[in-house]
Amino acid sequence: SRDQHPLFVILGASGDLAYRLLMPAIYRLYLAGHWHSPVIGFAPDDWSGDQYKDRVVDGLRQFVEEFSEDRWTEFQQLLHYQSGELSPDGLKPLAQKVGDSAAIFYLALPPALFGQAAQGLAAVGLSKSASAFRRLVVEKPFGHDLQSAQALREALHQGWQEDQIYRIDHFLGKETAQNILVFRLTNRFLASIWDAEHIRSVQITYAESLGLEGRWRYYESAGALRDMLQNHLMQLFTLTAMDPPSVWSADALHNHKVEVLRAVRPIAADAVDHAAVRGQYGPGSDGHRTVVGYRDEPHVAPDSRTETFAALKLNVDNWRWHGVPFYLRSGKRMQRDYAEVAVQLKEVPRGLFGAGLRNWLVFRMKPDERIDMVVWAKEPGLTLKTRPRVLSTPYRRASEMEYSAYEQLLLAVLQGDRTPFPRYDEVEEAWRIVDPVLAAWKTGQPEIYPAFSVGPSGQDRLMDPGTAWRRLG
Ligand code: BG6
Repeated sequence: SRDQHPLFVILGASGDLAYRLLMPAIYRLYLAGHWHSPVIGFAPDDWSGDQYKDRVVDGLRQFVEEFSEDRWTEFQQLLHYQSGELSPDGLKPLAQKVGDSAAIFYLALPPALFGQAAQGLAAVGLSKSASAFRRLVVEKPFGHDLQSAQALREALHQGWQEDQIYRIDHFLGKETAQNILVFRLTNRFLASIWDAEHIRSVQITYAESLGLEGRWRYYESAGALRDMLQNHLMQLFTLTAMDPPSVWSADALHNHKVEVLRAVRPIAADAVDHAAVRGQYGPGSDGHRTVVGYRDEPHVAPDSRTETFAALKLNVDNWRWHGVPFYLRSGKRMQRDYAEVAVQLKEVPRGLFGAGLRNWLVFRMKPDERIDMVVWAKEPGLTLKTRPRVLSTPYRRASEMEYSAYEQLLLAVLQGDRTPFPRYDEVEEAWRIVDPVLAAWKTGQPEIYPAFSVGPSGQDRLMDPGTAWRRLG
């Protein structure tokens, strides 16, 4: 029935997101046998159906390694195009096409248009159907601070119910993110150590060697704190720190996620320097290539204070985590692509086999996905010396299929599974946490760090005595 294969409507079908990410992911799902939905591309461009298909196939040839001309011939029969503006008038022909079918509306639009598009769809009756579901998909940024995030929520909620809205934070489609909870909650030996009695600190790092990649228009007004920490790293933090829900349902999960976010101690305006550090990459070289500093990137203001590195220290005021700092950091033009969630255990009592012996449990995301456990063992030989060993396993077998985060999340939207999509209150709590830092960073300057380095030296001041940031691999 049509209900099993809902229509998938892309608003902004002529844009970059649809071209580079969305259509390739849909096509890969199709190749894997998971996609059967008709796609209706919607955009202001006055294109014919064939012009739209030409544009799509151009992207697929570029971005899908497994592209096959034969499969394209079948796949393209699913593609339709409707031109129009986002106004109610412009959306009417779309409403006629959709009729009373089940439908998903993906806003592949600039964020400034989210509210208008959501309301336009509702105005022509597309947010409701007596006989079939209607879903709305939006992708970050969800506002640029708490106030604008609340305004966006209100705009979306005019015409749409919260349980129709799927907010994409693509990190929640990543295997490691999904595995954090599974690993935590299926391994008995972790249950009793997952708290302040046994864990000393948690470090979440997402380092990228990439620079601005031509995204100045967005990035200049965003910066690393908004681009990475408020959303992606905050989600990794949440999954690591939340209490286990008792059932696997979206609302139970989101309630528990919100609860731990609420427990994050507010950062006082006069204490921002103790809780947050910003940096901006200067020129540098990795031995193979020399790159310009951020301020010399095309279109960037020569005195830009946009941070390309941000680090945060979070304290969680609840029974489980009292006294355990959570460190989050992410930067561009860093030494290497390296990402992990690293949990540091407290040291064992000194005296027997040496002082300061601690375990780490590390969920590594980049350069490869693996789980590492750093343990101590006797060094073979005639004395009772210890040395660290790493119990390590790659996350995926070489033969196992690798899906991108988009594929995982699109499938979840089709299935009506809301677990991997942040609820509005998660988003807003995350803004509540970073807002004081954003306010403080309206003045002053980021520390310049050399491109391809470990970031600003100022990040060390967040560390408690006796702790240090982990090396980037
Ligand atoms: C995006 C950010 O959300 O995430 C980018 O806007 C960043 O700046 C990207 O590079 C990182 O995610 P991934 O999955 O590409 O490593």
